[in-house]
Amino acid sequence: MSNLLNLLEKIYQTNDLTYKEITYLLENITNEDREVLYNYALKTKQAYYGDKVYLRGLIEFSNICRQDCLYCGIRASNAKVERYRLTPEEIIGCCDQGYELGYRTFVLQSGEDLWYTEEILVALIQEIKKRYPEVAITLSIGERRVETYQSLFASGADRFLMRHETASKELYETLHPTMRFDDRRACLSALKEIGYQVGAGFMVGLPGQTPADLAEDLRYLMELRPDMIGIGPFIPHSETPLGTEKGGTIKDTLVMVALARLLIPESLIPATTALGTLHPQGRELALKAGANVVMPIITPTSVRKQYALYENKICGDDHPEDCRYCIERRIQAAGF
Ligand code: 5AD
Repeated sequence: MSNLLNLLEKIYQTNDLTYKEITYLLENITNEDREVLYNYALKTKQAYYGDKVYLRGLIEFSNICRQDCLYCGIRASNAKVERYRLTPEEIIGCCDQGYELGYRTFVLQSGEDLWYTEEILVALIQEIKKRYPEVAITLSIGERRVETYQSLFASGADRFLMRHETASKELYETLHPTMRFDDRRACLSALKEIGYQVGAGFMVGLPGQTPADLAEDLRYLMELRPDMIGIGPFIPHSETPLGTEKGGTIKDTLVMVALARLLIPESLIPATTALGTLHPQGRELALKAGANVVMPIITPTSVRKQYALYENKICGDDHPEDCRYCIERRIQAAGF
């Protein structure tokens, strides 16, 4: 048996690999090995979660951002984006519609937009919880003060998504001129400490990212043990400094999804919109490689296209109900 098949067998049996072993695996994996890996990841997912796929309704409520991440289409320096901000009333309207469509988790995501003060967010969360006591509220609003995280949690927010983006300090600081690697990690630790269910994650195929960097991403996640892990390919956006770089591939991203499933087997792993953008069956392939969550967009159609973190994002002309039923059909057709 090849070295690589031994490693795959080991990861399947023990849910563990060293940094060196992961790096070796990423550098040497063949197409045949990939199929074995996806299959092990699928079996592991099924052992933990069966055939269930969890749906979370995604509300992209503002594309205004104070940060300037080199890869991101809504970075502060991109003067070509038409900016928008949904009012709290409009956000609640999205929740009403999402609730009708059957969603019981809402992900409130935005750029880092301080117009939504702690007070505004607290009132919003309380109102959603008052209307729908059984829903889970997930925030994805970036870096804030620990005290703010605390009061948002106290007002009813249950979960928080904040990708670590890359576990390489050097790469992180190159890509995020307005942010600090240590701050990001401190936010993630604080969120966990406060009691949020936390989602971390990273992009695959960033310019300059190496197999060793990706191994580091997985080792970091094994340490942090987040409840959710979001992994997507980097997709260049022409109005950013990385607009002419190469993007991540579907294959490399699926390998990372499968490895995350095997190394952090109890985690929730979304089949990301970025994967669906790269390949017509990208999300289905992710479900077959260990992912078990989908986050259909319930942002109003009128502003959807303006939330372009990357180009050609899918579902831009769709309405929330289109995405709801499209995803159900896709999940069932994929056998889940
Ligand atoms: N390509 C792929 N993913 C991106 N994100 C931001 N910009 C891009 C891009 N150009 C991801 C980041 C962020 C998440 C909301 O979207 O990982 O955390």
